[in-house]
Amino acid sequence: MIPDTFIQDLKSSCDIENIVSSYVKLTRKGKNLVGLCPFHSEKTGSFFIYPQTQSFYCFGCGAGGDVITFLKRIENLEYIEAVKLLAQKSGVPIPEDTMDDKTVRQKARTLEINRETARFYHRCLISEQGKAAYQYFINRGRTPKIIRHFGLGYAPDDWNSLRDHLKSKGFKEEDIENSGICVRSKKGGLYDRFRGRVIFPIIDLRGNVVGFGGRSLGDREPKYLNSSDTPVFKKSKNLFALNFAKSSKAKSLILAEGYMDVIAIHQAGFDNAVATLGTSLTEEQARLIAQYTDTVIIAYDSDGAGQTATKRAINIFSEVGVKVNILSIPGAKDPDEFLQKYGPQRFELLLEGCTNALEFEISKIRKKYDVETPDGKVGFLKEFSRLMAGIRNPLEREVYLTQMANELGIAPAAITAQVENIQKSQKKAQARKEKNDTSIYIGDLAAGRGDMQRKRNLRIAIAEERIIGILMKNPDYLSYLVTKIEPQQFVTDVNRELITTISQHIQSNRSIEPMALSGELSEEAMKRLSGILASEESQRAQRNELDDYIQVVRDGISAKSQEDITKMDDQELKGYFDSLAVRKK
Ligand code: CTP
Ligand code: MN
Repeated sequence: MIPDTFIQDLKSSCDIENIVSSYVKLTRKGKNLVGLCPFHSEKTGSFFIYPQTQSFYCFGCGAGGDVITFLKRIENLEYIEAVKLLAQKSGVPIPEDTMDDKTVRQKARTLEINRETARFYHRCLISEQGKAAYQYFINRGRTPKIIRHFGLGYAPDDWNSLRDHLKSKGFKEEDIENSGICVRSKKGGLYDRFRGRVIFPIIDLRGNVVGFGGRSLGDREPKYLNSSDTPVFKKSKNLFALNFAKSSKAKSLILAEGYMDVIAIHQAGFDNAVATLGTSLTEEQARLIAQYTDTVIIAYDSDGAGQTATKRAINIFSEVGVKVNILSIPGAKDPDEFLQKYGPQRFELLLEGCTNALEFEISKIRKKYDVETPDGKVGFLKEFSRLMAGIRNPLEREVYLTQMANELGIAPAAITAQVENIQKSQKKAQARKEKNDTSIYIGDLAAGRGDMQRKRNLRIAIAEERIIGILMKNPDYLSYLVTKIEPQQFVTDVNRELITTISQHIQSNRSIEPMALSGELSEEAMKRLSGILASEESQRAQRNELDDYIQVVRDGISAKSQEDITKMDDQELKGYFDSLAVRKK
């Protein structure tokens, strides 16, 4: 047992304010301090520190206690571990014989086993039997240096090599099983969980190896396998590479989807990247992140799953009061691939592009108005909405909208409605401009550019034409269509011209007979329209096919911007980002 005198010593030599403030941002309020409670979600602080009694209490969730209670909860520790950590933090020497608690001993042994396992896997990777695995990392662009830095490893492709190694080191089967690194078979034998996989050790904030991720070398399923939860490892509470990222000098954290992304980002010189461990982001992880930064950059995969996960993460971060920036990754499926293709400098441009310009603009108009007054609020919202209307990426727009709505205490839908109004009138103005600008069409026609473009983007162009065909037969589908895709977003020029003019006609209750349109359409568009009306497929197209066609065009939209950006040289790319910043203004 721990002597009482030691506990008293400890309490008198540490200050709750110091300890807590490394986890929670505190502000002084009279004699006491207040901050956002780390134990539940809140936007206004109800978490109080009372230096006089060296205690804390949260009026929101009722959490309370002394500094040891605090450490137990926030670090997920047993009492004795919390005492030891506190002693460490306050520089008080720990008396011997404090290690008699059974669960503590077990945890300590699991950690030893994990450490030995990580060593073993790493040795296997750099030895002869790991040759193919090592080559796998090299082929994926990893350097020997980063392999060492992350302690990457290889689990040999047989059933017992780790088990036998651990036993030879004197670990008991029972403890090995408890560590979760080996599994008990139905027949009673113990076998290795990871076989024939490259290994990513997961290290907690105190430098303990708490678990492992393993990726198969080829197509063997499952692609990734993770340690099961153990007393020292909860997937939902840990983040890959936070042990490195926590001491980064960067102001924000980058949250990526996969191990490989994080490693690639670190290798490229950004030491502030982390990832979840094969699960989607949890509130606990978001709170953990909130302890280290107030801004996170989400760099999830650019596929549908990644975008859905991004939306989810936005909400979770907004709950815990972390600001979010979305990194869209043009021309690559994830950060790893982007870095391979375009290198660190371009990645940095992406990072800068997603953080600076807009924040700056918002703070500028924020200063102009006093949002505490009704007039000021209205004025601010007007300008803010105009700014939002200029953001192309709907997710990014949602982020800022939600944050601002929360900050001002109004419904997000109210701002959304304003933004949509502005966008509508902007589109009308744009369409008028395009219509008057006939010289463009003549130029097009002369070069036959429209047809060329159609050939190059045939799949998308056909989808666009089917949409137009369906709309010509069923003008009342327009209101549905525009909830999915804007006429301006059509990828090929001629079809864009068509859909824009047609929808204007529908919206203003004018006829969409070809005759009624011809005065406003270029020759080439008119030709195309006749083609659509004549095509049997277009005539047969049904409403229930509409969504599929819309999807094709939407995919085309992202593909198009990717294609553009991949062709740019550095100078052009810089210009592109500058223009993004200007457009945001
Ligand atoms: N993941 C998992 N189990 C799977 C697939 C994925 O736990 N069967 C988790 C892993 O943590 C992985 C992350 O989800 O790192 C992202 O998945 P994916 O995009 O497939 O991984 P990448 O890192 O891109 O994989 P790859 O090695 O193919 O680049
Ligand atoms: Mn990926």
